[in-house]
Amino acid sequence: MRNDGRRLLPILNSPITGGRQAVTCHYRCNNACARPVPNTSDNQTFAEVVAEGASRRQVLITGGLGLATAAAFAAADTRTPAVAADIAEASEGPLGFKGIAPTPAEVDEFKVPEGFAWNPLCNWGDPLTPDAPAFDIKNQSEAAQKQQAGYNADFVSVIPTGDNTAVLSFNNEYVNPELMFDGLADARPTADQQAVLLAAHGLTITALQRASAEDFYERDLNSPVNRRIHLDTEFAFTGPAAGSDLLKTKATPKGKNAFGTMNNCAGGVTPWGTILSGEENWNGYFLGDADNAAAQEEYERYGVVTSADELSNYFLDAAPRFDLRNENNALHHFGYIIEIDPMDPTATPRKHTALGRFKHEGANVTIAANGHAVAYMGDDERFDYMYKFVSRKKYVEGNKQHNMTLLEDGDLYVAKFSGDGFEDGVSDGSGIWIPLTQNGKSVVPGMSTEEVLVLTRLAADKVGPTKMDRPEDVEPNPVNGRIYGALTNNSKRAPGEIDEANPRAENKHGQVIEITEAGGDHTGTKFTWKLVLICGDPTDPTTYFNGYDKSMVAPISCPDNVAFDKAGNLWISTDGMPGTLGHCDGLYAMPVAGENMGLLTQFLSVPTGAECSGPLVSTDNTSVFVAVQHPGEIDGASTTNVFSQFPYKGDGFPRPGVVEVKRTKDAPGPIVDTGVASGSAFGSAQSRVGSLFG
Ligand code: FEO
Ligand code: CA
Ligand code: CA
Repeated sequence: MRNDGRRLLPILNSPITGGRQAVTCHYRCNNACARPVPNTSDNQTFAEVVAEGASRRQVLITGGLGLATAAAFAAADTRTPAVAADIAEASEGPLGFKGIAPTPAEVDEFKVPEGFAWNPLCNWGDPLTPDAPAFDIKNQSEAAQKQQAGYNADFVSVIPTGDNTAVLSFNNEYVNPELMFDGLADARPTADQQAVLLAAHGLTITALQRASAEDFYERDLNSPVNRRIHLDTEFAFTGPAAGSDLLKTKATPKGKNAFGTMNNCAGGVTPWGTILSGEENWNGYFLGDADNAAAQEEYERYGVVTSADELSNYFLDAAPRFDLRNENNALHHFGYIIEIDPMDPTATPRKHTALGRFKHEGANVTIAANGHAVAYMGDDERFDYMYKFVSRKKYVEGNKQHNMTLLEDGDLYVAKFSGDGFEDGVSDGSGIWIPLTQNGKSVVPGMSTEEVLVLTRLAADKVGPTKMDRPEDVEPNPVNGRIYGALTNNSKRAPGEIDEANPRAENKHGQVIEITEAGGDHTGTKFTWKLVLICGDPTDPTTYFNGYDKSMVAPISCPDNVAFDKAGNLWISTDGMPGTLGHCDGLYAMPVAGENMGLLTQFLSVPTGAECSGPLVSTDNTSVFVAVQHPGEIDGASTTNVFSQFPYKGDGFPRPGVVEVKRTKDAPGPIVDTGVASGSAFGSAQSRVGSLFG
C-alpha cells in the first residue's frame, strides 16, 4: 500500500466503455468494465441453445446472429432512414409535448420542451432542517454533511401526503472527491475528507409543499421527516439469512443488524408507501484479504480487489471496516434491497436478505392478482441476471404494518430467456423463472438457504439463467401489467455470445425488454418476452423502435431507469449517450401500445457530464422529476476546472440534485395528455402499483 497520498491510478488510462467518462467509471464502479467479466460460469450460450432446437437451426446457419439480426430488422423496416439530428425536432410527439432535439454532449444546459419550465428542488449540500449548517464547500465536515443533502442523486420518489404536500426521497449513489474538495485532482482524500465523502452517501429525505398544482414544490424545512440515511444509520436484517454466521461481525455479533447503506442506485415505491433502494457498486469500496483462500471465489464473482492500488474509492482511513483483512464478514453487510419508511423517522430501515445479495440496481413491486407481492430486480453487471421475488404472505389493502413484512419471507427466482428465432424480424420468445428458493428454502444443490441469499450470484450460476447485457431498472407497468427492463449496454459481448434477448455483439447502445407473465400471473414461472426497443441512432439498421417508422423517432442509447405515467407510457432515462452518440443524456417517452407504439420522443436533456436518473411522472400528472447525477463529471474536472455550473445559482461548481419540470404557469396543464395517449389500447389493469397514490 502506498503512503505518500498520491493518486494510485492515472485515471485517464482507464478504458472508457459503455459511453462514460473515465472518471465516472473510476469513482462509480471502480472501473468494473476494465476488469475481467465476473461471471465465468458456463451457462449455455445461444449457439448451444440453438443447437438443441431444430426450429432455430436456420438462424445458426446464417453464420452470425448479428448479421441475421440486422438483416431481419432491415427487412422489416421498409422506410428510408432519416438523418438523426433532424428526427426528434420534426416530431410533434404522441403525448402532448413537442420533443426536443438531441443536445450536443458539451452543452452545459438543462433543456425542456417548449411550454415547460424547470426548477432545482434539492441539491448537494442543501440544509435539511432550520438548524443544519449552511453549505460551504470550503468548510465541510462529516457532521454538517449528515444534515445536508447527499451527493449524486439517483432514484427519486415523491409520495403525496396531501393535494399540495409530499415527501421527496432520493438516493445518493457515489461521490467524486475531485469535484467536492479543492486540490484533490492528484491526491488521496485525508481521513477527515473521507469521512465527509462517506457521509454524502445514502439517501436524502425531505418534505415538500407548494401553493397549488400549477406551482413548483419547495422544501419544507420544518418537517420531522427530513433526514439523511447514511453509512452510520442502523439497519435490521430480515429474512432467512438474518442472524446467519455469514452476517456476524464484531460490531454486530448476532448477525441481525448492519450499519449503513451505500451505492444506492435505483429503487421503487411499494404499494404500501415505503421506498426500496438497491445497493449496487459496494464491492468497489472493499479491500479483499488475499490470504483468505475461502473468500477468493466470492471476491472474483462480486468484483472485490485484493490490492489497495486498485481501489478508486479509498476510504480505508475513515472506515477500517472496508479492509476485509480485519473482518471478512463486513463484506456481507452490503448488496441488498433496503426498505425505508420515509414517513416515519423512528422506524429502523431494513435489509431484506430474501431478495438476494448482488449488485442490486433496484426493485419494483406489484401485487399479483392472487394477492402476493412480487418484486422485479436486475443485477447490473455485464453478463449478469434478472430476478424476481414472490412473497409468501398476501398483501392486505390498508394494513401497512402487515404489508411491510411481505419482503421478509418468500421465494427468489432468476430468469432464463429463449428466443423463437430472428426470422420473424423481432427479438422475442419465451422464458422461465428458475427458483433459487422454494417455500423459503434453498433448492440450489450444495448451497444452504443462507448461502443462496448472501452469495446469490454463485447460486444463480448453478441453475443456468441467461447472461444479460447489464440489467438495470426492471419495473412493472401499472396499466398493462407487463414488466419492462433496461439492459443498458455490454461492450464485452462477443459475436459468439449473442442470443435473441441480447442480440448485438459489442453492444454499445443497449435495449429494453418487455416481459409478459403467462396468464398475467406475476407469481408464475413462465413468460413471453420481446425487445420493444433496440437502442442507437435510428439510421443504424440494428435498431428497433417496436416497429415504428424510424424517421420519426429520437436517437437513444444506454437506457438506465424506466418509469410509467398514468396512461402506461414508458419513460426512459439514459446514462452514457455522450460517449456513444455524442449527445447529453436525457429523458424519453414512448407509448407501448396503440397507434403510436414505439414512437420515442425526447422530453429533456441534462447538462454536460451528467446522467439522467430517477425519472418520475407525478401521480397527479402535473410534474416530472429527474435526478441530475454527476453534472460536469468530465475527465480532468475539478473544483478549479469546472465544466458544469448546474443548478446555475452562482456557486461556481456543479451540485448534483433533483429537478422538477412543469408546464409554464401561463399555460398550465397535465404532463401527458392521457386523452391521446395509448392507455385505452392496453389490456385491463392487473396491478395495484401506485394504487394508494394514484
Ligand atoms: Fe447505478 Fe446500474 O447504475
Ligand atoms: Ca423472434
Ligand atoms: Ca442506474
